[in-house]
Amino acid sequence: MEDAKNAEEDLVERFRDYYVHSDHAVLRELEMRTLGADYGGNGYTDTTQVEHFVDLLRVGSDDRVLELGSGAGWPGVYISKVSGAAVVISDIPWEGVSWGLGRARADGIDAIAVACSGIALPFKDAMFDGVTHSDVLC
Ligand SMILES: C[S@@+](CC[C@H](N)C(=O)[O-])C[C@H]1O[C@@H](n2cnc3c(N)ncnc32)[C@H](O)[C@@H]1O
Repeated sequence: MEDAKNAEEDLVERFRDYYVHSDHAVLRELEMRTLGADYGGNGYTDTTQVEHFVDLLRVGSDDRVLELGSGAGWPGVYISKVSGAAVVISDIPWEGVSWGLGRARADGIDAIAVACSGIALPFKDAMFDGVTHSDVLC
């Protein structure tokens, strides 16, 4: 159990170091070319797949979506952009979700950022109409 906890802490620290550089022009360009959007993506899920998520979630402007392990906000912020749903992006490193929050605000997207672990969520029951995650269980 202690080994698993240490492994998770190491992993999260690695991501924290990455998210500090989220504003870097090379990362933005890389994302545009590989994922089709530059909303802080740090995985393999592209815009076509995210639009499919939106169809599956069946959410719209009256709904609220929780994204777990969003890193710097991908794809939660884009889900909100495409569907009109409010989004809560969540991950452990504040460095990631805070960047995603700034990106959402810059585009007028309805987002809230919460730094928390998916293992111990600080939300009341039934707060969300949809929950999503992408490239987190890897
Ligand atoms: C490969 S990144 C993917 C991030 C984002 N979904 C994307 O596609 O760009 C995996 C993310 O999972 C997060 N993660 C790992 N364990 C977590 C946990 N217990 N709770 C919340 N997030 C976690 C990491 O911090 C990291 O940001």
